[in-house]
Amino acid sequence: MKQTLRIAASIALASATLPAFAQGDVNNGRVLAYTCAGCHGVPGYKNVYPHYHVPKIGGQNYEYLIAALNAYRSGERRHPTMRAQAESYTEQEIRDISAFLSSLNTSDRK
Ligand code: HEC
Repeated sequence: MKQTLRIAASIALASATLPAFAQGDVNNGRVLAYTCAGCHGVPGYKNVYPHYHVPKIGGQNYEYLIAALNAYRSGERRHPTMRAQAESYTEQEIRDISAFLSSLNTSDRK
């Protein structure tokens, strides 16, 4: 009986903590992504500056967002503004932001 409880508890614990590490924390990402809205125009993702192109990032694929942000961070992608943005976040924060942005097409549909 005790053994069963212990197993059940560790499964519950594992499933409660694992996704946060692997996937990023959507709620933390929502807070962090606040600064992205000025340029990327969250919500609705319309370009707030009509004179230059800002890509749509809401609802974008999770892995794609992480790859793009890491590429700006490493300098592989050379856009200075986005590099400055990406450099200011840790890997975990990039996962959190990406989790939030990729969740937008399903949970925050307007
Ligand atoms: C000052 C304006 C500005 C801010 C603030 C900003 N971005 Fe960007 N972002 C851009 C521009 C402009 C591009 C296009 C850059 C290019 O051509 O490489 C871009 C590109 C991107 C891309 C690549 C999209 C693609 O389709 O490849 C991602 C992902 C992204 N931004 C995420 C973010 C996130 C997340 C934040 C907030 C942490 C953020 N941006 C804040 C202006 C901004």
